[in-house]
Amino acid sequence: MKEENSTSPEVSYNFLETVVLVTGSGGGIGSSIAAVFSRSGANVALHYNSSREKALHLAEELSPGGKHAAAFQANLCREEEVRQMISRIVSRFGRLDVLVNNAGIFPSAGLLEMKPADWETMIDTNLRSVFLCTQAAGKQMAAQGNGVIINITSIEANHPGAGHAHYSTSKAGVLMLTRASANELGPLGIRVNAIAPGLINRTGLEEAWPEGVASYRKYSPLGTLGEPEDVAHACLFLASPAAKWITGTCLTVDGGISNRPLI
Ligand SMILES: NC(=O)c1ccc[n+]([C@@H]2O[C@H](COP(=O)([O-])OP(=O)(O)OC[C@H]3O[C@@H](n4cnc5c(N)ncnc54)[C@H](OP(=O)(O)O)[C@@H]3O)[C@@H](O)[C@H]2O)c1
Repeated sequence: MKEENSTSPEVSYNFLETVVLVTGSGGGIGSSIAAVFSRSGANVALHYNSSREKALHLAEELSPGGKHAAAFQANLCREEEVRQMISRIVSRFGRLDVLVNNAGIFPSAGLLEMKPADWETMIDTNLRSVFLCTQAAGKQMAAQGNGVIINITSIEANHPGAGHAHYSTSKAGVLMLTRASANELGPLGIRVNAIAPGLINRTGLEEAWPEGVASYRKYSPLGTLGEPEDVAHACLFLASPAAKWITGTCLTVDGGISNRPLI
């Protein structure tokens, strides 16, 4: 991806010859991010941990025969697996231009009942994994002289949700890691930004959490939940040359709910 010469919108969203890694591509938001980049011409590396079938199916759907999409397995809590994944992606596609750190978990637990192991799993999966992927991909991008990293955090980084002390803390950490990474990696030609989604629709959400969905619709200025594509389109923008002077920031994609007055 050439950032210097292409600033007009029609050029900006052309990701031909760009290699994009999306972690957690078997999940709701990750699969949408991968699909949107693929439709914009990118070669997509679809990371999965346990969702092998979903990732393989998506790879075949996006690029029948697998020329422009391939699935890569790794437990992102394990340093060696992360390092090997990046190495396999570079062997397969020749480079790595965009990393979207999307994989994450969001179980709930009250602070007084939470086991230390719950805390550690959350921080390992949501924060340490972002550090590991940023470091491994960052080395490759530094060698290339350019790259873009996008970290999916959450509005809960600033507005802790009930039963989510560990989750909100992990996402606040991702926000600060984004800013620190932007400072260190900017001189190497690498931009780093975050996206903070609000509540994103998925199959079964309304049945599983009717009161949360109703409350979101009621209090959000735009009156709806988000769709995975809303996050994906924000990724497209931040990865594109249209955002070539944007680094170290966070784009909130939440229908305006975190902008509401506190009282
Ligand atoms: N959904 C929302 O409303 C919402 C709102 C704000 C922020 N977010 C954030 O957006 C991101 C995606 O959310 P989602 O709703 O799409 O979640 P999801 O459907 O549950 O997908 C999460 C993905 O994370 C991967 N993952 C979990 N543990 C992993 C590990 N140890 N190593 C590697 N991969 C691991 C899973 O991979 P496998 O399935 O392959 O195991 C899964 O594909 C998360 O970071 C989440 O915190 C979501």
